[in-house]
Amino acid sequence: MILAQAHANLALVKYWGKTAEGGNRAANASLSVTLDGLTSLAAVRFRSRGESDRAVWHPPGPTEGLGRFVAHAREVLRIRRAVDVVVQSNFPVGSGLASSASAYAALTYALAEAADEAPGNVDLTALARSGSGSACRSLLGGFVEWQVGAEETVRQVAAADHWPLAVVIAVTREEPKHISSREGMVRTASTSPFYRAWLDANPADLSLVRDAVQRRDLAALGPVVERNALRMHATALGSTPPLLYWEPATVAVMREVWRLREEGTAAFFSIDAGPQVKVVCEPGAADGVAAALTEVPGVHRVLRSRPGQGPRMLREPPSWARLPAPWQDTPTPAGGGAT
Ligand code: DP6
Repeated sequence: MILAQAHANLALVKYWGKTAEGGNRAANASLSVTLDGLTSLAAVRFRSRGESDRAVWHPPGPTEGLGRFVAHAREVLRIRRAVDVVVQSNFPVGSGLASSASAYAALTYALAEAADEAPGNVDLTALARSGSGSACRSLLGGFVEWQVGAEETVRQVAAADHWPLAVVIAVTREEPKHISSREGMVRTASTSPFYRAWLDANPADLSLVRDAVQRRDLAALGPVVERNALRMHATALGSTPPLLYWEPATVAVMREVWRLREEGTAAFFSIDAGPQVKVVCEPGAADGVAAALTEVPGVHRVLRSRPGQGPRMLREPPSWARLPAPWQDTPTPAGGGAT
């Protein structure tokens, strides 16, 4: 059994829109922080001759995209034998917490390890991105920029230990969202009159956020992170039919963050394509922010995170993982697993 794990990421400047070329090529650049503790595990083993691929989330989740990705990855990585794949996350899946980013980054790593030949010149960024665009940013740790254009690539702007920011996440809904990011982006690009303005505003936000990260300047970072998220949602709201990812508690948390700021706590929110609110603050403020968010009606629970590392191979499943019964006795190949 081959095991790899990867973390989710929080986009400080959001990817929202694709080019027409396919493979989840982004229409705008984005910059994220990889989130320690929000982790997906991918387990891969070979199937017997004559069997076909099998790829599932455990507990069950949306398998269609997973199956398509595995078929594509096998072709690109030239994996001759059929594979059995299980993906599991230690946080709610499909609800706007970037489970697809961590899952496809982990799966890219695990499948690259399963390749018959060294994946040498295979572009793993493009492969991860084809599963879910934001997964390419989870291939690196720390602060990561996804650059677009002719040379579509990811690069680390700063390592995880460059700035030990805290990210406090208010979970306002555990169930999967109604409209996927994929569908949401297509609808926004094809129907929202604000989409062009969204793309035009991207370079300014990107450069402000990149500079603020490099200088570890939360007062400069926070307002841009907040406005970038709000502009993404405003653009999506302008679609036909409208796209509203928020719950009443989402708005209540946003107001609580503004209230905390009025009281002098430097805390700033971001929201992805879902109802959860991610609050960025200095580590010293995290306890107070978490306590305040826990009290907001409609908040189910509060998760804590900080900048984390890129994916890695594992010898054993992490302690939180519960693989399906038939997997539990599957040995990890000798020498397999880097760390
Ligand atoms: C709002 O990467 O999930 O979280 O490429 O269609 O799989 P697909 O979309 P996905 O979209 C993420 C959108 C976002 C912003 C971001 O992470 O940059």
